[in-house]
Amino acid sequence: MTAVGIDAVEIWTGKLKLDLPETFAPQKGDDPAKYTKGLGLRASSFPDAYEDIVTMAANAAYKLMDRKDLEPDDIGRIDVATESAFDNSKPVSTYVAGCLEEVYEDDFHHANKGERKFACIAGTQSIDDAYNWIKAGRNRGRGALVIATDTALYARGDAGEATQGAGAVAMYVTENPSLVELSHAQGYGSADETDFLKPNQQFPSVDGKRSVQVYLARMREALEDYESVAGDVELDGFEYAPFHTPFPGMVRKAALLAYRHVIRDTEHEDALAGEIGRQPRPGEFDDEEAYQEAIREYMDALGDTEQYQDWYAQVIDPTLSISREVGNWYTGSVHIARMSALLEAAEEGTDMTGETLLVGSYGSGAQAEIHAETVVDGWKDEIQACDIYDQIEDRYDISFSEYEQVHDRHNHEKRVELEPFTQPEGEFVFDGWGPMNERKYTYVE
Ligand code: HMG
Repeated sequence: MTAVGIDAVEIWTGKLKLDLPETFAPQKGDDPAKYTKGLGLRASSFPDAYEDIVTMAANAAYKLMDRKDLEPDDIGRIDVATESAFDNSKPVSTYVAGCLEEVYEDDFHHANKGERKFACIAGTQSIDDAYNWIKAGRNRGRGALVIATDTALYARGDAGEATQGAGAVAMYVTENPSLVELSHAQGYGSADETDFLKPNQQFPSVDGKRSVQVYLARMREALEDYESVAGDVELDGFEYAPFHTPFPGMVRKAALLAYRHVIRDTEHEDALAGEIGRQPRPGEFDDEEAYQEAIREYMDALGDTEQYQDWYAQVIDPTLSISREVGNWYTGSVHIARMSALLEAAEEGTDMTGETLLVGSYGSGAQAEIHAETVVDGWKDEIQACDIYDQIEDRYDISFSEYEQVHDRHNHEKRVELEPFTQPEGEFVFDGWGPMNERKYTYVE
């Protein structure tokens, strides 16, 4: 069977940085540790005045095409995943193609373009669409450009304001990829939920605490569904587990649940039994409440064990390094978690060829999906081309009053002028409004 997967990735962060412990926390009267230790975030990225979901997407895509020497003819699909779109009809992918056509001689007239929506999971769904299109043999030797792009803003004063972020991840999905091959097996956990939604509004209506529980419930269902087709997941069966990361503290909770699930009825559970007992089983309790209480106690003890902490430090923590610095990128979030882990592996000189990633995607509303990826030969060159940490370093650090202006600038209901904080160079920029209320873009040398 032909291998299908992700051949190349480029990441583009919004060029502004809001320092959460230093700049945001004092204004909110919060202890900075709520951000650094509780949520696990140091900063959020924001788009400068001339950036938006189209410029970030087009810039990531152009970087990818340029580095891989791709021409428009090599691209059979452009799928954009976003939950920050500003148009209910014309997809963001057409704007992105329009941008790219400014810098390429040829056009994308024979590429199928679309836009995927299911909260943060849409990026993974678009990769899945590309996979199916290639497996069906309809790609005519071409690859799919899949771009996850979002400006994740919450209403001012909403609890979610602490977890904002903005950036794009462009991925090229092909036969015989150079980064990861996707598994055929996948598992879903999906239910009609109303914990986070945007009913024709820019800023989400959120029940934050419930959204955390919904994430965990759907992720657990997806894992069970995945195991029903791929067999039981084993603790040493994967090197990293990149999860959707709205904030690293969310993944901390999910990882502990996943660990408990994966070690149940294995020698790992036995090895811990002397120290913290065996996992509570429902049949051992008179009522659900007593069972839940025992589970809570077991989880607290499990999280404190050396075995768990070592596993977390090796398998989960490396997936969170980018996210900690940029916040929630919604559709791009799980894809920066993958890159974060692989960047760390490259940095440490780990040979990842043939190793497995267990990838957990999630979107509110709500759906989780689990699949595996096999890292393939060539991964290291791909990963070493990624300059996201330089981009993170180069961001302009905004003050709180500048943050307020930036939030207003990107509020669709306000048309606020704002002098940019940075200078665009060799990139696409937002260039004002056209006669049909369309957004216009231009390439700046
Ligand atoms: P909050 O009320 O601001 O924060 O809401 P908190 O009081 O719950 O504190 C957060 C954590 O910091 C807690 O940790 C505190 O204990 C800890 P936990 O107990 O949960 O482990 N903390 C501290 N730790 C150390 N020192 C301190 C300190 N103070 C507090 N001094 C909430 C947090 C996540 C609810 C809020 O940020 C929110 O509403 N966020 C938006 C929704 C969200 O991100 N949900 C995540 C799951 S849903 C999802 O992932 C989908 C999503 O990406 C959208 C999509 O799919 O499209 C959001």
